[in-house]
Amino acid sequence: MALIEVNNLKKSYGQFEVLKNISFSVNKNDVVAVIGPSGSGKSTMLRSLVHLEEIDGGTIRVADDYLVKDGVYAKSPEMKQITAKMGMVFQHFNLFPHLTVKENLELAPKLIKKESASIIKNRSLDLLDKVGLAERANAYPANLSGGQKQRVAIARALMMNPEIMLFDEPTSALDPELTSEVLQVMRHLAQNHMTMIVVTHEMGFAKEVANRVMFMDQGAIIESGTPSEIFTNPQFERTKAFLKQR
Ligand SMILES: Nc1ncnc2c1ncn2[C@@H]1O[C@H](COP(=O)(O)OP(=O)(O)OP(=O)(O)O)[C@@H](O)[C@H]1O
Ligand SMILES: [Mg+2]
Repeated sequence: MALIEVNNLKKSYGQFEVLKNISFSVNKNDVVAVIGPSGSGKSTMLRSLVHLEEIDGGTIRVADDYLVKDGVYAKSPEMKQITAKMGMVFQHFNLFPHLTVKENLELAPKLIKKESASIIKNRSLDLLDKVGLAERANAYPANLSGGQKQRVAIARALMMNPEIMLFDEPTSALDPELTSEVLQVMRHLAQNHMTMIVVTHEMGFAKEVANRVMFMDQGAIIESGTPSEIFTNPQFERTKAFLKQR
């Protein structure tokens, strides 16, 4: 059974259909790269999975639970459990500026109060070590580079032990030399079998790390396949035209 299954997802802003009957599934350990032109609905699709956007119709199943079934959302406590299975990383990091790196990581687990402070602290130190930022635990976001901020944001999302990580253009706000350190952390996650959906303009990363590539245009998934199918043998003119500009 797929870990995520999306069926006939629809969303409009007024008359404008942002997502037109989107269906796809993601298996455990998949790394899915989502590519497509600006405005094609990539962010809206990703944000819908974690209920940052409300959809108008369709079904989203995550593991055994339905976030939305035929347009009807799960009730609030259950909905939180479902969305908590996914960690999200944004283009602009979204760190809390008034909290240190360590505090950024520990805030959400502490609010949930399911674990002791020492367990939370150990995990935050461990994750900061994994993203290469152990020595910056007490720094404030303003004193970090963009690449460091994004690595903190990834570690923060991992604090909740997600089953799936969603990335929305995680390197688009970064200079090229800072991009590689973030991609390196993501590559390690993929090697450790994290299930990931990555909206990205990094075609090199998509080719190398993703096992599936989904091309979106004008609110629809035009085609999806292995990186070699999409990059070397795209079937649709729109995919060809998009890839030619890269
Ligand atoms: N709150 C909103 N109200 C109205 N229209 C919106 C809203 N949010 C997004 N849109 C529109 O929906 C479409 C899809 O936007 P979305 O951000 O999902 O695209 P995207 O593929 O992520 O683009 P980009 O590559 O530029 O990030 C765009 O035309 C956008 O203008
Ligand atoms: Mg976007």
